[in-house]
Amino acid sequence: MNGLNTGIMGSGSYLPSKILTNADLENMVETSNEWIIERTGIRERRISEKNELNSDMAVQAAKMALKNSNVNPEELDLIIVSTITPDRLTPSTSCIVQGKLKAINAAAFDLSAACSGFIYALTTAKAFIESGNFNKVLVIGTEKLSSFVDWKDRSSCILFGDGAGAVVLSKNSEHSILNTYIRADGSESNLLRIPAGGSELPIDEKQLLLRTNFLKMEGKETFKLGVKSMTEAVLEVIHQAKLSLSDIALIIPHQANLRIIQAISDRLKFPSEKVFTNIERCGNTSAASVAIAFDEVLKKQIIKKNDYIVLVAFGAGTTVASLLLRW
Ligand code: ACO
Repeated sequence: MNGLNTGIMGSGSYLPSKILTNADLENMVETSNEWIIERTGIRERRISEKNELNSDMAVQAAKMALKNSNVNPEELDLIIVSTITPDRLTPSTSCIVQGKLKAINAAAFDLSAACSGFIYALTTAKAFIESGNFNKVLVIGTEKLSSFVDWKDRSSCILFGDGAGAVVLSKNSEHSILNTYIRADGSESNLLRIPAGGSELPIDEKQLLLRTNFLKMEGKETFKLGVKSMTEAVLEVIHQAKLSLSDIALIIPHQANLRIIQAISDRLKFPSEKVFTNIERCGNTSAASVAIAFDEVLKKQIIKKNDYIVLVAFGAGTTVASLLLRW
C-alpha cells in the first residue's frame, strides 16, 4: 500500500433545485420516458438557473464539506477544482471559488480530466499532502453541463445534469486513501468532445451554425470503453492493495449510464446492491458525479468504520481512475 496518511475529513454536495424530467425532455426532442429509462436508467436530472454559475455550485458544496470537516476556509492550503465546464476559460474556476470562500491562504488550480476528474484531483491532493507541501486540501468536482449540452441532440442531451460535490483532505486523518490508479488514452480523444471554443476552433458564426460549441459524443463506443476501463480499474486498485473483491463493502462508480454500471457488476460478479447509484435522480454530472454520490453515501450512513470502498470513473480524454479508501 502506498501510504496511510491522507484521509477524508468530511464531504458536501449541492444540486440545483430545478428538476428536468424525462417528460420535460419529451417536449424538447423526439424521445420518450420509456426509452430513456430503459437505455440509461435516468428519470430526472438537475439543471442550474442561468445566473447560477458553476463556481456558485462549487462554493455551496465546499461550504458544506468545510462545515462537516470542522475546517475554516483560512486553514486551507490548496483548492483543486475539477471541471470541464469552467465559468470562463480563464481565470480558473478554482481561483473564483477561492475568492468566494475567502480561503486567503490557499493556492488554487483547475484540473481537467472529465468524468474521472474528481478521482484525479483526489490523487493529486494525496500527492501534495504526502510530499509534505500542504496539510489541508479542498477537492471539488463541479459541472454546469447544461451550458454545453446540445439540447437539440436527443442522443446526448438526455444524459447530463448539473451539480457539485466536495471533500476536505488532510494529513494523518482517519478514512485513509490507500491506493489510487489513474490512466489516459489520448488515441480515443474523439469519443467525447466539445470541438469549438478552444484555441483550435474559436467560436464564430460558422461554428455556431454547425453547433460545434456543444458536446459531441460517440455513444456506443463510449459505452463499451466505459465498461471495460472501469472494470479493469476496480480490479487494479484492489490488487495493488492485495485485497480481493469480497473485501469490498461498496463501489461508488461514475454515474454515466445504469446499464454501464450493471455491466461492470456483472463482469466483476460483484453484488449490484453493493454498487451505489443515484443516476436515476442526477443523470451524468461528469466530474461532480462521484463526488455527489460519495457525499450521499456518507449522509445515508451506508458505510461503517474500516469498510473498504472503491471509487471508479472514466471520461473524455479518454481517462480512467479508481481509488481505494478504508473508512
Ligand atoms: N430517444 C429515442 N431514441 C433515441 C434517443 C432518444 N433520446 N437517442 C438515440 N435514439 C435512437 C437512435 O437514433 C437509434 O435509432 P436507430 O436504431 O433508428 O438508428 C436507437 O435509438 C439506438 O441508438 P443507440 O445509440 O444504439 O442507443 P444506445 O443503446 O447505444 O444508447 C446511449 C445510447 C444512451 C447514448 C448509450 O450509448 C450511452 O449511454 N453511451 C455512453 C455515454 C456516456 O457514458 N457518456 C459519458 C461519458 S463520460 C464523460 O466524460 C462525460
